[in-house]
Amino acid sequence: MNSPVRILFVDDEPAYCRIFSKKIGADVRFQVRTAGSGPEALESLQKSSADIVITDLSMPLMDGLELLSEVKTLYPQIFILILTSDDSTSQVVKAMKAGAYDYLVKPFDFEMVVRSIETILAHKAAVEAGQCPECMSGEQFCFENLIGQDRKMFEIYEMISQVAQTTATVLITGESGTGKELIASAIHAKSSRKNKPFIQVNCAALTEGLISSELFGHEKGAFTGAMARKKGLFEQASGGTLFLDEIGDISPTTQVSLLRILELGTFQRVGGSETVKADVRLICATNRDLAAAVREKLFREDLYYRLNVVSLQAPPLRDRKSDIPLLANYFLERFSAINNKQIKGISRDAMELLCAYDWPGNCRELANIIEHSVVFCRTESITREFLPAQLKTTESHTVSESYVTPPTLAEAERTLIKKVLEDSNWNLKMAAEILDIARGTLYSKIEKYQLHKPE
Ligand SMILES: Nc1ncnc2c1ncn2[C@@H]1O[C@H](COP(=O)(O)OP(=O)(O)OP(=O)(O)O)[C@@H](O)[C@H]1O
Ligand SMILES: [Mg+2]
Repeated sequence: MNSPVRILFVDDEPAYCRIFSKKIGADVRFQVRTAGSGPEALESLQKSSADIVITDLSMPLMDGLELLSEVKTLYPQIFILILTSDDSTSQVVKAMKAGAYDYLVKPFDFEMVVRSIETILAHKAAVEAGQCPECMSGEQFCFENLIGQDRKMFEIYEMISQVAQTTATVLITGESGTGKELIASAIHAKSSRKNKPFIQVNCAALTEGLISSELFGHEKGAFTGAMARKKGLFEQASGGTLFLDEIGDISPTTQVSLLRILELGTFQRVGGSETVKADVRLICATNRDLAAAVREKLFREDLYYRLNVVSLQAPPLRDRKSDIPLLANYFLERFSAINNKQIKGISRDAMELLCAYDWPGNCRELANIIEHSVVFCRTESITREFLPAQLKTTESHTVSESYVTPPTLAEAERTLIKKVLEDSNWNLKMAAEILDIARGTLYSKIEKYQLHKPE
């Protein structure tokens, strides 16, 4: 049997910790431990790691968002679920942006909790199955050569696995530096064509005159200088995958030739009459808005639909900021090795700067900045001083802390009971169970504290 999934449950209300431990801990697949605050949770993780952290959002000392960002920085491989009440949508959005995997609404529906945990486990298993051998340490989430543990990346991994089984044409869109090329090569590597060629061509770099003969080849004497028959990229990629990068840049004439190939599955070499069968899986990528280009009549609509059978959108790095520490450490390792440097890590303040920046150039910009810092680093870890100035102009997020006068015991008890009643929709059986008191005691407390069920 697999070892149990280690779950750390964090809530400042002991009653919630108790009931969670009791209910979820009863399942042999899970090993539950609890913490009553953010700092206690961090201490617990330092002693022994966890696979999943489930944390309440509103807690004194350190709230759930702060804990989330600490855990993401220190232990990027841990999955985080947050607990919330119905009314805190903005907090949930913030938490999801900061890298929470999902959220659970109080009062718990324990079936939902188990389902969320199982979804995480399924994702984890899918990623582990796609891990490359050098990433098998388990500390890095790596699918083929893509690094990322954000939910958006898991969705990409799943789509890659699915489309790899087919020969459907794929269109990968996304800003520059988001990993479109890596996604294309991952699709090839996961497909049954993996032992055949993966040929990549940058359409923007080919002149109008060259592109047809490059793609389709030419016959001897097709034009001045064509001394012999030459196979084009479609023939060279036979049985494999042809990756047409920067597809948004091809001319109207090439658009027509490409459309023909896609419709007929055959082509002719330049200057030839022989019909050649094209056995290639086509993947295209662009950082342009192709739909807009279609509207502006710069790109053929019929070709757009042919290319866009499956579309994959590489998310910008600012939309998966929780992956920044993971990627930064990965690039650090890579560039330290290349440059023969023994750099142990990235200091906390430097990591904060990296996480606060918006990364218009996405992963490529992050890779370049880490490479630059590695080259100039003279200490055993990368500190702020080795990071370029543009990062330092980003405002860092300060968390405003308001001091609250501690409540009296009775006030605290009233607040807790009121909250549990609200969370459980005034389900008295459930509330008593959560509070771990008899139902009769709950009735008398409701009366004592003059609590009323809302109409
Ligand atoms: N998820 C990722 N994990 C690891 N490295 C990544 C990831 N995404 C991008 N990179 C790195 O960032 C750089 C840019 O990636 P890539 O060339 O695939 O981007 P792109 O989307 O094709 O960019 P462009 O539109 O400019 O061609 C590469 O060095 C690549 O290794
Ligand atoms: Mg590219």
